Amino acid sequence: MLKLLTELAQHVADGLSRVPKALSSKYFYDDAGSRLFQQIMDLPEYYPTRTEFAIFREHGAAIAAALSPAAGGEFALVELGAGDGAKTKLLLRELLAAGTAFTYAPVDISAGAMTGLVDSLRRELPALRVAPVVADYATALTQLRTQPGSKAVLFLGSNIGNFHPAERLDFLRQLAAPLTPADRLLIGFDLQKDPRRIRAAYDDAQGVTAAFNLNLLTRLNRELGADFDLAHWQHYTDYNPLSGAVRSYLVSTRTQQVRIQALDETVDFAAWEVIHTENSYKFTLPQIEALAAEAGLRVVASFTDAASDFADVVLTAQEE
Ligand code: AVJ
Repeated sequence: MLKLLTELAQHVADGLSRVPKALSSKYFYDDAGSRLFQQIMDLPEYYPTRTEFAIFREHGAAIAAALSPAAGGEFALVELGAGDGAKTKLLLRELLAAGTAFTYAPVDISAGAMTGLVDSLRRELPALRVAPVVADYATALTQLRTQPGSKAVLFLGSNIGNFHPAERLDFLRQLAAPLTPADRLLIGFDLQKDPRRIRAAYDDAQGVTAAFNLNLLTRLNRELGADFDLAHWQHYTDYNPLSGAVRSYLVSTRTQQVRIQALDETVDFAAWEVIHTENSYKFTLPQIEALAAEAGLRVVASFTDAASDFADVVLTAQEE
């Protein structure tokens, strides 16, 4: 019998039949997951958001200038994974203060997050032109290809860390393709540092990150009619300072079977078997330079905090 599956159902069917089992962190961000990520950003252990904020506070005017087209004129400021836009508002204020003519086009996968962002922008920056898009990165990349005129693309918060190295280069090449040498790309990279600090950022004492990871199972229960019993799953994370990868897992704490109605399937889990749910790569500045070059990009300017915990890198397309 032919059955039409939603994108999520198809992904779960593929991911849970693999060895080892894996699901994409992309599916963390239902409305509940987006709210949990908001809480993560306020955790004492989760330094990236706070650090990127500090960089924008310190260098906001210089970053805004580096993003504006040299020749002046109208441009689109596209942000992939805008979330609550809290950091971006610092840049938006700088651009508006400089009298720059632009439209802000935030893209986010969560409709709830987008509604919140658009409402707050109307209130806080009524003069700003906003063209919101609820979509995933693949759709956003397609739209970028047909976007007329000058553009600057924001990809903040070390969202780039979620890509596996092979996919990361491919993604950056796709991002670079529609850019002319007059266009700009700003990417936030979390940098390699004390491994204990990195690990703690993904395993906080209050258990918010655990709830964020486990929410994926709640989502599968709700949207796919699955019966994951959260009492028998736990969050686990490790950091490998050689690869720079934080990996997050959902661990099955006993032998169990999970019924997934939408797939008409039952999945077996052994005791202590894991589902790999996220990669959060950490970078070095030389790696960033090399990655840019491989993707056909060139570093225009790079901004870091005093402790070099995080880097915001302005890039442009290499001349042909
Ligand atoms: C939103 C992808 C940047 O990887 O640091 C936070 C998501 N996962 N805690 C990250 C996340 C667990 C976050 N990004």
